[in-house]
Amino acid sequence: MEIDRRAFFASLGGAAAISAMDSEAKADALEEYMSEQLDNGAAGSTPATTSPDKKFPTVAELDSQITTRDYRRGVGTLFANNGRNVKKLEPMPANPTLLDFFKLRFAPANHVLQSATRAMKTGMTEEIILACLLHDVVQSLIKPDHGWWGAQLFEPYISPKATFAIRYHQTLRFYPDSAAGYEYPDLYYRIFGKDYTPPPHIEATYKMLRNHKWYMEPRLVTVNDLYAFDPNAVVTIDPFVDIVGRHFKQPKEGLGNDNSPVAHMWRTIARPDSPL
Ligand SMILES: [Fe+2]
Ligand SMILES: [Fe+2]
Repeated sequence: MEIDRRAFFASLGGAAAISAMDSEAKADALEEYMSEQLDNGAAGSTPATTSPDKKFPTVAELDSQITTRDYRRGVGTLFANNGRNVKKLEPMPANPTLLDFFKLRFAPANHVLQSATRAMKTGMTEEIILACLLHDVVQSLIKPDHGWWGAQLFEPYISPKATFAIRYHQTLRFYPDSAAGYEYPDLYYRIFGKDYTPPPHIEATYKMLRNHKWYMEPRLVTVNDLYAFDPNAVVTIDPFVDIVGRHFKQPKEGLGNDNSPVAHMWRTIARPDSPL
């Protein structure tokens, strides 16, 4: 996997932060960065392409790797650390907000912050910027069908259009739309296999979306679903705090304490070390 060195250094907080790290911490950080990039859909700075290259694995090759791991590829990032020990998590505050989850459970959340930053720079609506900010964070809980899981996690708190954008970006990631500026990503040849075809529920969902009046909502999430970003930019949640305030209905009891249909999902993200 190619590493954008400047992006990696920026993700660590720049030269001053790196000089304070010992060499083991730097090696750990690099490994963490690489897995984070790959897991969250921000692998290196490889540009999008429309044709699979020989360097990508086949579906059969990827299948043959299943029994070489002590975890399944669909496990949420909070629950496995690519064969290494997990880290101690800071406890959540009593009435946690979305921003608390960003800071304490979704961090570093580089990929979604990069996507939302691009959406903001390109003048997207606040709903799309919010959808970009939230589109993949459920991968800390679970990865298969993350569009549906992610939409469910946020549905009680955001608009139907933003929910729609999150639910269906997963499907549209598999289907190029040159007119909208979206090509099939190299990353997908790498992580699904170069001869992969999406399962029937994804194909059926794509057919539905093509004729849907809200097609462009999830499509714009895919357009902003970035692999690379300005290496000099250090992304933070700060530019999005006002948008979250306007478009995210934060329950006063805190996420997980509000008896919503998805409160248990927030509690699970808050307490992933709970044995049952
Ligand atoms: Fe995604
Ligand atoms: Fe993404």
